[in-house]
Amino acid sequence: MTNIKTAVLFFSRTGTSERIATKIADGLGISPIRITDDKNWNGIFGFIKGGYYASTNKSVNIKINGEYKEADQYVVISPLWAGKPTPAICEFLKQVPVNKVNLILTCNGSNIESAFTKYENTIGKLKGHFGIVKRLKDEDERIKDIIQAVK
Ligand SMILES: Cc1cc2nc3c(=O)[nH]c(=O)nc-3n(C[C@H](O)[C@H](O)[C@H](O)COP(=O)(O)O)c2cc1C
Repeated sequence: MTNIKTAVLFFSRTGTSERIATKIADGLGISPIRITDDKNWNGIFGFIKGGYYASTNKSVNIKINGEYKEADQYVVISPLWAGKPTPAICEFLKQVPVNKVNLILTCNGSNIESAFTKYENTIGKLKGHFGIVKRLKDEDERIKDIIQAVK
């Protein structure tokens, strides 16, 4: 095991990414940090607004609810919204070096690899990337692989 200092950060609308962030952070012996923004994404209107904000790259103001600046690497967990990380996570990724970020996207069933390729073409090469596709029902195996890879 290396002495690399890791911060786990997440945004979650309905709890999936929060659960995954908590399991990864537990595995690393640290606490996950929640990123919030200034929008209300609840309910059907929130869902529609989320799709609109994500697909038009609209920015949001974020709050990072913990200390992360001293980390050597980041493990960042986001839901996939309209093929992209959420607006709050896109904002966070403008504030840290992309090559220190392991990005984990959770989604229902999308082709996650093509989402990473498209996203890396705009922001640059990530340190690592991992998808958790709910349809595949392999969350705990994927989490084990992620913990192993970032340790
Ligand atoms: C606005 C919006 C857009 C979404 N777009 C996609 C998508 O393009 N592909 C997909 O597989 N899932 C999509 N989803 C589903 C979420 O990515 C998935 O349920 C995710 O795991 C939810 O994470 P959370 O519970 O942490 O909020 C979308 C959900 C929302 C709210």
